[in-house]
Amino acid sequence: MTQPKIEVLADASTLVQRAAELVMAEAQQAIAQRDRFTIALSGGNTPKPLYEQLAEKDLPWSKVHIFWGDERYVPADHADSNAGMARKAWLDRVPLPAENIHPMATDAADPADAARTHEQHLNAFFGSKSEPGQFPQLDVVLLGIGPDGHTASLFPHTEALQVCDRSITVGNKDGQPRITFTVPMLNRARCVIFLVTGENKRTALQQIFAEQADSSQWPARLVQPQDGQLIWLLDQSAGQELTL
Ligand code: 6PG
Repeated sequence: MTQPKIEVLADASTLVQRAAELVMAEAQQAIAQRDRFTIALSGGNTPKPLYEQLAEKDLPWSKVHIFWGDERYVPADHADSNAGMARKAWLDRVPLPAENIHPMATDAADPADAARTHEQHLNAFFGSKSEPGQFPQLDVVLLGIGPDGHTASLFPHTEALQVCDRSITVGNKDGQPRITFTVPMLNRARCVIFLVTGENKRTALQQIFAEQADSSQWPARLVQPQDGQLIWLLDQSAGQELTL
C-alpha cells in the first residue's frame, strides 16, 4: 500500500489547475506506455471546473476513454446525472469519439442489473475478470468526499462497503440507488486523485486521516490503492486544520 501524497493548495481554483496538471501528466504517460488513457470521473460540484479546464487541453482524444466511478440512478438527461454534467463541462467540447465514453447505464428497472451490465462492459473493454485481483485497472480515478466521509457512492454503513467480489455494485444514498465502483475496484487504480474543497469537509478529513477511526463510518478511509498512487488535493479551507 502506498503512502498518500497530500497537497494543500491556496484555493479551489489553484487546486483545479494542479488537478488538471496531474491528469494531463498521467494521460501523457499512459498513452506513451499503453497507447491509451482510461479515467473514471467523479460527480458532484468540485470536479466541474476541472472538467472545464480539461476541455481547453489538447490530447489525442481517440486514445482517451472516459468512465465514471459512480452515477446517480437517474436518466442521462437528468440534472443530477454525473455523466450529463461531465458531457456539458468537457466531453461535448472536445473531439472525443462517442464510443470512448462509457457511462453507467441507468435505465434498467433493477439497478443491480445495471451494475452487472456495466461490470460486463468493463470486463470486455479491459479484458478483466470479476475476480479479486483481476478487476479492471484504470489509469486515473478521480474522487471527492462528502461531509459524511463517503466517496464515489460508497456511503457510511451501507452494504456496498462490504462488496469485494465485484467491481461494480449498487450504492444507496438515503434510499436512493446509485451505481458505484466497489472498494477493491477503486484500489486497483494506477492513480487515485481526491479533490476536496471547503470547510464542510474538515471533520471528514480529520477522521479519514486519523490513526484510529471506523472505516464504515468514514468510507474514504478504505481507498488505499494496492500498487497505485494516492494523491489528496485539498484547498486551504478543507485542509487547514488537518494534523497528520
Ligand atoms: C457524486 C460523487 C460524490 C462526490 C461527493 C463530493 O456522485 O456526488 O461522486 O462522491 O464526489 O459527494 O461532492 P462535492 O464535490 O459536490 O462536494
